[in-house]
Amino acid sequence: MTTSAVKTLSQLANHQEFIQRHIGPDANETAAMLAELGVSSMEELIAQTVPASIRLPKPLAIGEATTEADALAYLKAAASKNKLFKSYIGMGYHPTLTPNVILRNVLENPGWYTAYTPYQPEIAQGRLEALLNFQQVSLDLTGMELASASLLDEATAAAEAMALAKRVAKSKANTYFIADDVHPQTIDVVRTRAEMFGFDVIIGKATDAVNHDVFGALLQYPSTTGEVRNDSGLIAALQAKKAVVAVAADMMSLLLLKSPGELGADVVLGSAQRFGVPMAFGGPHSAFFATRDDYKRSMPGRIIGVSKDRRGNQALRMAMQTREQHIRREKANSNICTAQVLLANMASFFAVYHGPEGLKNIAERIHRSADVFAAGLQAKGVSLVHNTWFDTVTFKVADRAAVVARAIAAEVNLRTDISESLSVSFNELTSASDIAQLFDIVLGAGHGLDVTKLDADIVAKGSNSIPADLVRTSKYLTHPVFNQYHSETEMLRYIKKLENKDLALNHSMISLGSCTMKLNATAEMIPVTWPEFGSLHPFVPRDQAEGYYQMIGELANWLVDITGYDAVSMQPNSGAQGEYAGMIAIRKYHESRGDSHRNVCLIPVSAHGTNPATAAMACFEVVLVDCDKSGNIDMADLKAKAEAVSDKLAAIMVTYPSTHGVFEESIRELCDIIHAHGGQVYMDGANMNAQVGITSPGFIGADVSHLNLHKTFCIPHGGGGPGMGPIGVKKQLAPFMPNHSVVKIEGTGQDNGAVSAAPFGSAGILPISWMYIKMMGGDGLRQATEMAILSANYMAKKLGEHFPVLYVGTNGRVAHECIIDMRPLKEKTGVTEMDIAKRLMDYGFHAPTMSFPVAGTLMIEPTESESKVELDKFITAMTSIRNEIAKVEAGEWTADNNPLHFAPHTMEDIFDPSWDRPYERQYAAFPAQYVAENKFWPTVTRIDDVYGDRNLMCACPSPEDYR
Ligand SMILES: Cc1ncc(COP(=O)(O)O)c(C=O)c1O
Repeated sequence: MTTSAVKTLSQLANHQEFIQRHIGPDANETAAMLAELGVSSMEELIAQTVPASIRLPKPLAIGEATTEADALAYLKAAASKNKLFKSYIGMGYHPTLTPNVILRNVLENPGWYTAYTPYQPEIAQGRLEALLNFQQVSLDLTGMELASASLLDEATAAAEAMALAKRVAKSKANTYFIADDVHPQTIDVVRTRAEMFGFDVIIGKATDAVNHDVFGALLQYPSTTGEVRNDSGLIAALQAKKAVVAVAADMMSLLLLKSPGELGADVVLGSAQRFGVPMAFGGPHSAFFATRDDYKRSMPGRIIGVSKDRRGNQALRMAMQTREQHIRREKANSNICTAQVLLANMASFFAVYHGPEGLKNIAERIHRSADVFAAGLQAKGVSLVHNTWFDTVTFKVADRAAVVARAIAAEVNLRTDISESLSVSFNELTSASDIAQLFDIVLGAGHGLDVTKLDADIVAKGSNSIPADLVRTSKYLTHPVFNQYHSETEMLRYIKKLENKDLALNHSMISLGSCTMKLNATAEMIPVTWPEFGSLHPFVPRDQAEGYYQMIGELANWLVDITGYDAVSMQPNSGAQGEYAGMIAIRKYHESRGDSHRNVCLIPVSAHGTNPATAAMACFEVVLVDCDKSGNIDMADLKAKAEAVSDKLAAIMVTYPSTHGVFEESIRELCDIIHAHGGQVYMDGANMNAQVGITSPGFIGADVSHLNLHKTFCIPHGGGGPGMGPIGVKKQLAPFMPNHSVVKIEGTGQDNGAVSAAPFGSAGILPISWMYIKMMGGDGLRQATEMAILSANYMAKKLGEHFPVLYVGTNGRVAHECIIDMRPLKEKTGVTEMDIAKRLMDYGFHAPTMSFPVAGTLMIEPTESESKVELDKFITAMTSIRNEIAKVEAGEWTADNNPLHFAPHTMEDIFDPSWDRPYERQYAAFPAQYVAENKFWPTVTRIDDVYGDRNLMCACPSPEDYR
């Protein structure tokens, strides 16, 4: 061996190792793919693909790559700076015990966390069932008729309730009422939304609501300071004035309290966090939202419905999607796309695991803790602010500062933001000794109170802290699913049974265009469930969250570098939420310059539905810009439209590379045109996976972008959420980024409103993106982008031999995704893009994105994480499908009797004794050799969407119906 071949110790340490794990193709595979494209190097390919004018002149300033072990050790040291005090702050966030069987087999299980939104329901029946269970929990506890399958958080759900009220209320008023005892962060978010919609808001004592002419009102049950009040009279009085009443409720309390539905509410919403989901410094958590059946067409977010498959078996799917933004665009009910599926599923499993009795026991324990605490305080002459409570006791003490000091010394957080009072919210983890400790804190040593004795008194005499007319008598969770999986063995198997029905990234590539289903590395996921990150309440004093601030600060700095912007806000907790925050910043920027009249937002016709939906939410008038034959923005049309609205031009929302998967040459010119007319450029960051390290929105000339951290930066999709959508902005927009009424954020206007309930959105999943960037380093990130572009071009080349590739750039290259056009084949043979999508399931693959951005097409995004072996498998599948279509074309199979038409095939299908198809059963199920090695069986055949919407049913069907 020559000396030069001998590696140094530092080289042997292999700090780059993670890069090679994250990027699928190795050096040989990369060379083969480049050769297939007829280029000699990656640099040559990138030069052909990315316009020279937008190439970054220097590498990212992010440092070197770090090994998994080193990155974890560094982050652990940072996390250890978080102080894990006992939290009694409440305000919608409570300590909870995630049952270990759920922790390990759902939250920490890639079978659950790497799935996508269930757009292909035949291979998503598991999470659809878990979501249906979530809807059932929501329905039972709220006492309403229709529930949706998770919203982003309680505060945004309340804002959605206001928007729904405006849509459905018969009142013509333009004012919304918010009770002053709603959680402050909810008031903040609703107020921001109202301002955007142009509604007036009155915040006042709940009972005062009837004295105003309002189209709706928001109440909290129990109130933020704990009062349990019967608002049924108030609700009826408001409804008599044609207003729509929403109640933000605590899910745990509803196990003991009369449901808001029984009190007459029109909408009931709230957080499901305390059903087993860690507080995680504010999220991710799922919100529930339930309403009257009459309002079903006005519901925000996703609804899971029961339908049937081709064989008549019951099958689940997302219902009534025509309400959503991808169809209704600026007229949609909301811009919600990514929601909180993983967390909704955890909450639903929590209910399945404990069952109605177990849950009631937890709720009674929490309530008893509050009763005992209140009794002790009363015995010592401490005055309580309310006579009623479920879990929260608010009280006045003369020596408030001393009490707070004793609490901090004892590593206990009380709620301290209520003037002259303090409050304590009890939780599932509270023990008798915790109550005794709280007595010491509030009363000082030597108080002489005995928790056991106080408890015995309550047992003997009863409690009236829940008023008699509000004691729950109606039943809940009577469905068998909540009553049969209470041993751990049964629970484990139920979770596994559902997991087995779903195709996730741990089975095969999911090539959904625009969704970036890349590796979610295990090392990235590990910190998420560290207690140092998981157990923190979002409103703790800053000195208890130094680890979080450090991690968030470092991540924000890296994102500033990557995006070429000047500042980042971490508050939005989805991409669409980021769009909303960005559009608010643009609007406020114009207002600050006396340009309030600038209200037009240009949006290319190819835009994702969330863009127009968001623009409408921020009260912009949407003007569409055409695309030319090559799929690029029609610059002549853009110029003409910008010219026509010049004085009123506020912004453009543009995706780059385009939703058509191309690096348009004209992007700088586009930015210049918009700026020349006084507008701002919103660059949708969904396609950042094609930019990182090669170009950046800031460098190109855009002013603001959201980043889908759940795409480019490795947060897994969770089956439809969680996500994070931080925005990056140029400095002129920085003063208009969101702030927060409870936790003030530096670097933006101190009076700005919030867009999410928590100051840093779903902070608990930010360590995933932090780990990714730390382990990749600047060079690794650029390599990932290059490989994403190579893989897409390889795919386009190979598939292009069988299907037309719809759009390519100047040099015939695509960006990080490609669109193949199924319309010509459909015309000739009747085989649709839907048939192809379903047939891919028989080949063990999830379909690419269907009919977006162009109807009748499939958009494929392989990402950098898939090896050439996996890419080739997919190509084999698509080629084989093309051969099947050829047989239909040749008349060998008829259009309505072929494997595409009947796809996907279930086991029941294959073993059906009456099989009489013109193709073999064996071929139907094992159409390629590789399939046999790792067969994925869809559990239902093709689902009837129309039937499901016509016969809307969104609750758990009785088990007899499952046949
Ligand atoms: C181009 C584009 N913009 C915006 C979004 C919305 O992001 P999110 O789903 O995180 O709300 C998506 C989501 O798929 C997208 O593809």
